[in-house]
Amino acid sequence: MILSIDQGTTGTTAFVFDADGQLRGRSYSEFPQYYPRPGWVEHDAEEIWQVTLRVCAAALQRSGVDARELTALGITNQRETTILWDRHTGEPVHRAIVWQCRRSAEICSELREAGAESMVRAKTGLLLDAYFSASKLRWIFQHSPDLYRRAVAGELCFGTVDSWLIWRLTGGRSHLTDHTNASRTLLYDLDRRQWDSELLKLFGCPPSILPEIRPSAGMFATTDPAAFLGAEVPITGVAGDQQAALYGQGCVEPGSLKNTYGTGCFMLACAGNTRPLVPEGLLTTIACDLAGQPQFAIEGSVFNGGAAVQWLRDDLGVIQQAAETEQIALGIPDTRGVYLVPAFSGLGAPHWDAGARGAIFGLTRGAGRAEIVRATLESIAYQSHELAQLMAQALGVDLKCLRVDGGASANNFLMQFQADISRLRVERPRQIETTAVGAALLAGIGAGVWPHDDLPKTLVDVERDFLPQMGELPRRELLKGWACAVAACRTYRG
Ligand code: G3P
Repeated sequence: MILSIDQGTTGTTAFVFDADGQLRGRSYSEFPQYYPRPGWVEHDAEEIWQVTLRVCAAALQRSGVDARELTALGITNQRETTILWDRHTGEPVHRAIVWQCRRSAEICSELREAGAESMVRAKTGLLLDAYFSASKLRWIFQHSPDLYRRAVAGELCFGTVDSWLIWRLTGGRSHLTDHTNASRTLLYDLDRRQWDSELLKLFGCPPSILPEIRPSAGMFATTDPAAFLGAEVPITGVAGDQQAALYGQGCVEPGSLKNTYGTGCFMLACAGNTRPLVPEGLLTTIACDLAGQPQFAIEGSVFNGGAAVQWLRDDLGVIQQAAETEQIALGIPDTRGVYLVPAFSGLGAPHWDAGARGAIFGLTRGAGRAEIVRATLESIAYQSHELAQLMAQALGVDLKCLRVDGGASANNFLMQFQADISRLRVERPRQIETTAVGAALLAGIGAGVWPHDDLPKTLVDVERDFLPQMGELPRRELLKGWACAVAACRTYRG
């Protein structure tokens, strides 16, 4: 039995898989999001731990499995989110600064103006953007000299969510991360595959706060029974959620790619074991590496995908549940020219514009709830389409097929619209929680349950294909409208 924890931006899910790759039980819970100022997003790290522990217990109970029967535990997580805690008490010393948070955008602009971008891009494969962890850390230290002093004195630990969970699961014994998560911090040298002193200096981060980096599959640590459901379970798989999904989709051949529709949308392509050259706007990152062989991935990141549907539910209150959006969108022939650009936290790939803000365009008196709901779903597909175009350029091929996963990929309207707007065959697997599948596979490999070249096939079966049906003319018109809407969001400064 393998327990796989998927600690996402809006909720944590725990899954129990058996050795045949069959799902035995799962449990999910959302947790509070904090938006203290426009563009700021925070989590409470203690709440992340508590919700994680709760869903693990519930998933085990639903599966009829005792924690002591677990062979291995895998962790996959929202990446980049920055947590600092006290090494002695284990208490967080600051709210977790979430990957979507824009508070450090100015720090990035200053470093860009000082000419640091090319060095940062060459070393990390990323961009100088507030999305990644390092500028968030610098922001904390700039705003709290006391925390900086404690960090220099070796009293604090930094970690992305994987490190934080490992710390708590082991009762504070292990401060670890894996290469996929480390490669998202802006503090990691992609070629040497280790923390980099020049980057640490640039962002004013004392090295003593860093976790040790390990391969994604292998022995990390064992859980402390006093902290984790009375059981001592080996933690043997750890990866950032998008890399775990790439692996869970079986994308291990260079050129194979997937798009995950979660809080954001993340398109990743496997790039093999040499570092690829990527066009402006895309990122290079570490894919799950097995047996010490570095694997690279090319990534396009959209900040708000499913989050826009959550906004319809929680802030506008026009739907009760995300799943309703499918029927609402199918109930009208089009949006009557309405476009919604969910640039709630600026725009990620390919625009990388921290100052862009969300907007609804094209409202006329006949446009209402259904049009706004449909425009929200369409915005997820448009943004993913922009990623697909860039990805095709990076890979130097005409894409034919897009493998999809993540919660919003269950939406048939969205998947058909994606196929139409991108002129691609969209392939949806039976198990759309491929992030958790990836973490379970890594944990199983790390614990020796499965050899990495003979994994259970049940996990990657295709459930449904969506084929393009829209005519070329309407497609072009729609894309033209979308481009105008995005341009307006980028120039508006209210
Ligand atoms: O880079 C951020 C990403 O890891 C968040 O994933 O699933 O919470 O949208 P998700």
